[in-house]
Amino acid sequence: MADTRPNNASTLAANRLGPGDYTDPAILAAERAHIFRRHWHFVGLDRDLAEPESWFLTKVAGTEIIIQRVAGDGLRAFVNVCPHRYNALVNAPNGRGRLRCGYHLWSFDDNGLAAQVPLRAGVALEACQTAALSLRRWSVERCGALIFVAEQPERPLAAFLGPLGAELATLSRGLGTEVLRFSQDIAANWKVILQNTVEFDHAFGVHPETFAAMVERPLHLVPHDAVAPHIAYHTRMKPRDGLKPIERRIEDIFARSVIPQAEGYTHATLFPSATIGTTANRIFALIRYQPLAPDRTHAEYRLFISQITGLTAVEQAILDRVVPVDVAFTQRLLEEDRQICESVQRGLSNAPADLAGILMPGESLVGRFQQYWLDAMRAGALT
Ligand code: FES
Ligand SMILES: [Fe+2]
Repeated sequence: MADTRPNNASTLAANRLGPGDYTDPAILAAERAHIFRRHWHFVGLDRDLAEPESWFLTKVAGTEIIIQRVAGDGLRAFVNVCPHRYNALVNAPNGRGRLRCGYHLWSFDDNGLAAQVPLRAGVALEACQTAALSLRRWSVERCGALIFVAEQPERPLAAFLGPLGAELATLSRGLGTEVLRFSQDIAANWKVILQNTVEFDHAFGVHPETFAAMVERPLHLVPHDAVAPHIAYHTRMKPRDGLKPIERRIEDIFARSVIPQAEGYTHATLFPSATIGTTANRIFALIRYQPLAPDRTHAEYRLFISQITGLTAVEQAILDRVVPVDVAFTQRLLEEDRQICESVQRGLSNAPADLAGILMPGESLVGRFQQYWLDAMRAGALT
């Protein structure tokens, strides 16, 4: 019998990516070349490099990078390989002092040039101080207190971040105590994870008791335009009438935050590898994502509370009781998202190549993300 149901599918946008774009190793290899090498990646905060010559190790696009603070508050980003015979220069997650290779004890100056080379016998030091024998450097820049690196950036960080830059710089200076830091691998493609951060129609299926209970219905994301290739939006929460005295007290404490309190949830997805979200500027989640395989992504989570000046002992005690509740709530949300992303990846592994899917009106920002991805892949392939 013929299907007589009205077919509205043609008025809706199909996904711009197919199942293979999330499962094919060749696509990931192309993404590394065309996207990850050319875009800036958030890697950490100024406070991670509080001491002169301190450094931390991170991984971007499959490559380990040492981020180091050098003289005069400068920053350097070096690939973690010794140019002599390929030893990994550092193995610890962080440290301090001049970079020195443990294999044959070469050490390197702020610019990555060999500074000390023992065991040279008759070889002149200058023979080891060539560009070919220097540490490989990546670009590294700050936006406020946020540190970004890129292997071959198409443009300076300020141009890359555009109008988001000023907002992120302000936000970064208002971060207070770090209340949670952890990392995990998610069994899903990095694009599945990022697309999940730019729509909330899933709130009712995935977060019925957490996020869905808080947001105003109908759900309405207000996008911050002109931030391509990034995505930023704001969404309102249900008004909280009839606050109990303790809740009012907590509101009063947060009202003294360095960053003024704001309504609702504000989010930025920094293409291609980070998200920054805050609820009412009280708690901030900074998350990095780096692909490990087509179906595996490493995620690093850092949660901060707003910086508040002049806290009394009683106010601090109140925060010490409330913040863990907020943190546990955020962890639950993140876990719900991890589970759905892994489930989507499982579905993708079963999907026939011609299954195009559909983007509903509430998923327009997903379409925008997919378009950025297509544009970046095409541009990368042309250069
Ligand atoms: S491999 Fe580093 S000094 Fe030899
Ligand atoms: Fe979610």
